[in-house]
Amino acid sequence: MSTVSAPPRSVTVRVPAKVNCELRVGPLGADGYHELSTVFMAVGLYDEVTVTRAERWSVTTTGPYAAHVPSGSDNLAMRAARLLARHMRVTRAPVAIRIDKNIPVAGGMAGGSADAAGALVACEHLWGLRMDRDELMELAAELGSDVPFCLAGGIAIGSGRGERLAPVLARGTYHWVFALSSQGLSTPEVFGEFDRLTTDISVPQPEPSPAMMTALRSGDPEALGDALVNDLQEPAFSLRPALRAVLDAGLEFGALGGIISGSGPTVAFLTGSSEHALDLCVALTASGVVDQVTRAKGPVHGVQILPGPTRE
Ligand code: C5P
Repeated sequence: MSTVSAPPRSVTVRVPAKVNCELRVGPLGADGYHELSTVFMAVGLYDEVTVTRAERWSVTTTGPYAAHVPSGSDNLAMRAARLLARHMRVTRAPVAIRIDKNIPVAGGMAGGSADAAGALVACEHLWGLRMDRDELMELAAELGSDVPFCLAGGIAIGSGRGERLAPVLARGTYHWVFALSSQGLSTPEVFGEFDRLTTDISVPQPEPSPAMMTALRSGDPEALGDALVNDLQEPAFSLRPALRAVLDAGLEFGALGGIISGSGPTVAFLTGSSEHALDLCVALTASGVVDQVTRAKGPVHGVQILPGPTRE
């Protein structure tokens, strides 16, 4: 006897945060975006996004960063779900979106982009769309520069606005410690500060550095620690001078390298092992210069559908 499975009533996915091991910023384009060359790594700090069939659109948020997430149509997950529904002409589209928010908001770890990527995959599954991967990636890029990488996960080079992805030959697992700030930084403001501080009018075309490529190929955390670089670090320090003391503290306590993550204010430290990461968390917490610390391994997969959907 053949059985036809009913469509799921609800789908939950989990989506990782990202850190930029390298972020090179080029000139500001006519479209208001900067040409980038970046190396993304997905790390094991996750948001969970659940979409459930509903009479009308809604979004609710739980978890430690729930209070900072915009509600309604400003929410990136909501925009993603609606964009997908329009693009694929889904009838009876409304969904209730629930976000369990563990990635800091406006922290330079792609928190909002992760939720958008999660909503795309969760709705694609809920609505049984079976889309072509490239088509989904194009929709992701419309929603934000980091959204395609949040879908893909792993380690990748991002170019263009950061949305064009290319694979990287990489090995090893890396143990990160993240010093989190209770107040976010606005990405456009940090890019604006980059423009203000960049007096050299001929900003070079950015490209991945050989040192970074060699480090990732070697799987050696010390080499990766030495190769970390972020052109948005000085602009982030300029807007939030206290972050310099956080970076200095982590390096003094023995991190193999440290960097502002994306446009900040999260400071990411690389360590040599999970024990080393734990020691660094303890030292940073005791130092009093950091609001909050957490640790995570990378690279990890992009969006993953969690088992156990409820059925109609
Ligand atoms: O695309 P996304 O929503 O992530 O970008 C947020 C803002 O960050 C943009 O509106 C722009 O001001 C700035 N940005 C930029 N250059 C990039 C990516 C983002 O100037 N490559």
